Amino acid sequence: MKVRNFIQSFDFDAAEMKTILELARKIKASPLGYRDYLHGRVAALIFEKPSTRTRVSFEAGYVSMGGHVIYLGPNDVKLGVREDIADMARSLSRYIDVAILRTFSHRAILEFARHFGKPVVNGLSDMEHPCQALSDFFTIQESLGGIKGKKIAYVGDGNNVCHSLLLTAARLGAQVVYATPKAHAPNPKIMQVVRHEAKRTGAKIQGFTSPAPAVRGADILYTDVWVSMGEESKAASKKEQFKDFQVNQALVRKAKKTVKIMHCLPAHRGEEITNEVLEGSNSIVFDQAENRLHVQKAILIYLSGSNVGRLHGVRSGT
Ligand code: CP
Ligand code: NVA
Repeated sequence: MKVRNFIQSFDFDAAEMKTILELARKIKASPLGYRDYLHGRVAALIFEKPSTRTRVSFEAGYVSMGGHVIYLGPNDVKLGVREDIADMARSLSRYIDVAILRTFSHRAILEFARHFGKPVVNGLSDMEHPCQALSDFFTIQESLGGIKGKKIAYVGDGNNVCHSLLLTAARLGAQVVYATPKAHAPNPKIMQVVRHEAKRTGAKIQGFTSPAPAVRGADILYTDVWVSMGEESKAASKKEQFKDFQVNQALVRKAKKTVKIMHCLPAHRGEEITNEVLEGSNSIVFDQAENRLHVQKAILIYLSGSNVGRLHGVRSGT
């Protein structure tokens, strides 16, 4: 039986993404109906970087479905330092059912998954943040009633969050227009995959090097920090390069009047977004944060496989 992971956005096909989003909708509507789905199961969160939303939504989600979670933070594990990642993965697979990793290097998650032999979830790497993006599409659908004919604008760094947003959009056939400084465009290899998939699904993905054309007529305006975790030494130079990419009232006015403001958080107010916009009436950032919980519960059920699925009548990933 093939082990299913969610390490990159494309680990799920479009039908699976839709199944998970639909399951998340049901979970959000009746969370108590799922309280024993993961009874007797144990998850490990292995995090090399700090986290509020990802850590707590995964922990709360797993525990609220009857499972138990062990958190291994930056002081508990140094991936590949104390021992080989392969040895750690092979040992942990004897104790736990699913591992959620937040790492500096995407390759570390792939290496862990190769030896773990059970589902692995990416809780953010330097390349991707797939749970964030899938959950963001849930929020977009919830807020706009669907994605057909809607324009999603992303303004800021061509980073992990941007990559997963573009990949998920390409897979689901959505329209995303992004604006980044030229030197901080999304990874060319990711863009190759995004363009190829967009051709197949009819998604519309377009890039600019200034925010105004990207934001014009947008239904969603999304941004993320300019300085990601691990990039602190580049802070001064990046802040200078991104100064024209701030999501402020002047930029918001170029979008649709009804535009919804999204940010994966944590936010650096006064840098990539102003306080006024983050706190404004168009902001849906805390609904966005909440939905991480519901969507990740659906991902965990889906990855838990056919035994959980059979027990509870959900078509599952293995
Ligand atoms: N959006 C997100 O991943 O937040 P945390 O870094 O707090 O987990
Ligand atoms: N791009 C940010 C996202 C945090 C959720 C980072 O990697 O730090």
